[in-house]
Amino acid sequence: MKKKIFVFFGPPGSGKGTQADLLCQAQRWLKISVGEILRQEIKNNSQLGRKAEKYVVQGRLVPSTIINVLVKNFLKKNINRRGYIFDGYPRNIEQNNNFLKIIKSVFGDKFDAYAIEIFLKDNEVKDRLGNRRACICGAVYHTKYNPPKKKNICDICGKKLFIRKDDKPNVVLQRLKVYHQESEPLIAYWEKLGKIIKIDGKKSIPVVQKNIIKELESLGLVR
Ligand code: AP5
Repeated sequence: MKKKIFVFFGPPGSGKGTQADLLCQAQRWLKISVGEILRQEIKNNSQLGRKAEKYVVQGRLVPSTIINVLVKNFLKKNINRRGYIFDGYPRNIEQNNNFLKIIKSVFGDKFDAYAIEIFLKDNEVKDRLGNRRACICGAVYHTKYNPPKKKNICDICGKKLFIRKDDKPNVVLQRLKVYHQESEPLIAYWEKLGKIIKIDGKKSIPVVQKNIIKELESLGLVR
């Protein structure tokens, strides 16, 4: 059976991580979030974490040479899943080219790859990220739209939530700039292939989820 592979595009705060988690729970797919892996490495003060930190806190992309190796290794360790969601990878042309090579080298021609773009205006992004709370386990909350059951405590692992360093307003502006300049152009590539689903990220979390599932059902990608 062919592996199902999805890449998520969308500006910071558009809900990529939130929707990727919901889809993976429902479909038993595996999420690969480069941002989460980097935050974990930074927390552990590993060699990779020390290299990546200066880029992440400034809202810049970590060099693709580092990221491509990280993704390939992650995928090689997890080849037995039915489906995969790449949250936040690829983010530029170099990564997109590498992504295609990696999935071919790991799965041959036994995969179906699609992109899911969650679009959201820049002013909405600022509201989302200003009130986001994150957990080191990868769970994401919002004080208004998706609060944890107990204030500032993760529902899943019970750890204390934190505000991401890169959610400061000036860093968010930089991340938006990087998204528009480097990542958004990739959407045209997936459009040309006719393999992109476009979803309005302004709707509520359950409605966005329902709309993604509806699109995937219409393509026969979920049961
Ligand atoms: P990463 O962690 O991937 O950040 P991002 O792409 O900027 O995306 P975010 O995680 O900020 O947002 P999201 O779209 O996942 O939204 P979320 O679901 O959290 O990357 C961080 C950094 O790592 C990068 O800047 C870079 O330095 C580095 N990096 C990562 N990948 C890299 C790569 N490939 N190459 C090089 N460097 C890389 O939702 C946001 C908030 O809104 C939450 O509070 C949530 O609860 C809420 N929310 C979600 N959906 C809704 C909704 N529909 N309605 C209301 N609220 C909602």
